Amino acid sequence: MEIVVSGIRPTGNLHLGNYFGAIRNFLKMQEENNCYFFIADYHSLTTHPTPEDLHGNVKQVLVEYLAVGLDPEKATIYIQSDIPEVTELYLLLNMNAYVGELERCTSFKEKVRKQPNNINSGLLTYPTLMAADVIIHKAAKVPVGKDQEQNLEMMRTFAKRFNRMYETEFFPIPVAYNFGGDLVKIPGLDGSGKMGKSEGQGNAIFLADDPKDIRKKVMRAVTDSGPTEMNQTKPEAIENLFSLMKVVSTEDTITHFNNLYNKCEIRYGDLKKQLAEDIINFTSPLRERILELSQDNEYLKKVAAIGAEKARESASKTIKEVREIIGFRKF
Ligand code: TRP
Repeated sequence: MEIVVSGIRPTGNLHLGNYFGAIRNFLKMQEENNCYFFIADYHSLTTHPTPEDLHGNVKQVLVEYLAVGLDPEKATIYIQSDIPEVTELYLLLNMNAYVGELERCTSFKEKVRKQPNNINSGLLTYPTLMAADVIIHKAAKVPVGKDQEQNLEMMRTFAKRFNRMYETEFFPIPVAYNFGGDLVKIPGLDGSGKMGKSEGQGNAIFLADDPKDIRKKVMRAVTDSGPTEMNQTKPEAIENLFSLMKVVSTEDTITHFNNLYNKCEIRYGDLKKQLAEDIINFTSPLRERILELSQDNEYLKKVAAIGAEKARESASKTIKEVREIIGFRKF
């Protein structure tokens, strides 16, 4: 079993795009590997959340990931800030992380542009903290999206540098977790692009949305004035609605609306009504579980405590050895 580590940013609620993307991969990974999944709350301090927001976001993310099936019996699920060893490794790695290379990271440069009034050193050393997150468990693999590729490269750089400096092969050099290309792209409801929370109101369907909101969002989805020729290729906005049906509706439903489209007899209102009901059917059990778990602080506390204990066991072992390698030795 390989050691896999992934951090989850505690921002925003899960939507269908997350579910059919990252989440399904997480569920598969936890069956096949020794997974460490954590909520990256230290990282989120770079944006200066209020204490209430910080705690609320961490709770929401924990609840939703548990609701979709992340399993504390199969994976180690923990909160980053429960593992002080991570901060120690972060400090140690920072001694060998050069300001120049950190400044050249595209995500840092982007932050400098986006938040010119809050260019804190946590942003600069974001990649060192990520490296600490991963190599503290001597991980072999990290599931990363396109936007995190450079951060993975930095982790590899820091792990290799440590090994080179101390002439050891202590840290494995982590590689990207390869999903074998079965990533399903879930489009948004605004007629273009993928589902995302930053793409504007109503573009994403959240797992916690209630049926009323789902109906409203789907009924407002972008369409066109309808096909004018038999068997016409579908424009993107229409193709998107069919892509959504592919993940929540039955074959029969899809065939039915496809045939109507091809015969130019489709009524988008009917298609949307059906799609909304199928989405509701799919998300309802998840939504109920989310509501249930958010009331159950006792259970959340237990999950976090068990996760922290398991994660610290692995982290403290690494830190002890790292200290020894660096030369912090007992008299
Ligand atoms: N930076 C990641 C994100 O924005 C979250 C993260 C923090 C992470 N530490 C990590 C991901 C370690 C993978 C491994 O999504």
